[in-house]
Amino acid sequence: MDRIFSGIQPTGTPHLGNYLGAIQNWVNLQEKYNSVLYSIMDLHSLTMPKEPAVLRQNVLDTTAAILACGIDPRKCFLFRQSLVPEHTELAWILGCLTNVPRLLRLPQWKMKCASQNNDGNVGLLTYPVLQAADILLYKSTHVPVGEDQVLHLELAQDIAQHFNKKYGEFFPVPKAILSTTKKIKSLRDPTVKMSKSDPQKLATINIADSPEEVVLKFRKAVTDFTSEVTYDPSSRPGVSNLVSIHAAVTGLSIEEVLHQAVGLDTAQYKMVVAESVIQKFTPIRNEIKKLQEDKAYLIKILEAGAEKAKELATPIYQEVRRLVGFQ
Ligand code: TYM
Repeated sequence: MDRIFSGIQPTGTPHLGNYLGAIQNWVNLQEKYNSVLYSIMDLHSLTMPKEPAVLRQNVLDTTAAILACGIDPRKCFLFRQSLVPEHTELAWILGCLTNVPRLLRLPQWKMKCASQNNDGNVGLLTYPVLQAADILLYKSTHVPVGEDQVLHLELAQDIAQHFNKKYGEFFPVPKAILSTTKKIKSLRDPTVKMSKSDPQKLATINIADSPEEVVLKFRKAVTDFTSEVTYDPSSRPGVSNLVSIHAAVTGLSIEEVLHQAVGLDTAQYKMVVAESVIQKFTPIRNEIKKLQEDKAYLIKILEAGAEKAKELATPIYQEVRRLVGFQ
């Protein structure tokens, strides 16, 4: 049976990259598949230490945003990761099948250590093993993610195969599902991905940004010295990122948005893209605000989702325990 699993770190309200690279796909997939799980990855977020009160609030804000984007708890299980402790238990077992040099080679480890300017914590190194456990705990078959998670998914595939070889065929080898906009770039440096942790405030569009913030960020977006609007991601990454965003939020093709941009220079085009983003996210932003006022409702959704996720996870994890010799 096909089973969709994906997750997001609770960094507060998601950004445009999260939405276009993942959440928009999640909304479509919950319509097409019968077994779909989405998780707020609070265990993962401890790898970049946070104040407890901030973490608590971020989990609720991320949940409100995901619901506002159209995730429907009647069509999927939406849950908080740490409420299902089998994630960490399975991660331990899978960690014992994973070699350290493989983890040391993953770019996110290197990048995050460099950005923190320290040696990194153990959680940051073994985080992709926990990610493999998240997926395999439910015998998931498909994982909708952005391009930055593809190497982590390859690790999960390798771990599943390693487990199956050692203990007998058990886990499906999960496949990535990538959206057409699999990598949205920073508005300040179109050679890197848009990211919540970017220190440049103008680099990242948050889906709850006010129209004024959206206009300002697009106005300041880095492009190049050619004023015509064209799509060529390798030689014109800045303007091509704008074209990708425009196409993704309007649902038009690249050709159609380029057609709309004929006669505009990049400065004028930036305002067209800003307007399309404002139009797309104004209703979502209003819904986020409404949902944020009902904390009890958000907590109830996450707890109810966790109970259902646990029901799926328990027999699978019990079988893992038996296979490895704990029972
Ligand atoms: P996270 O929280 O960084 O991002 C959530 C989703 O958003 C995608 N994404 C992007 N897509 C396109 N362009 C961008 N600039 C961009 N930035 C982020 C990510 O690819 C992701 O799909 N490790 C994961 C969370 C996780 C997970 C899992 C995902 C934990 N366990 C199991 C899938 C399955 C993460 O930090 O995503």
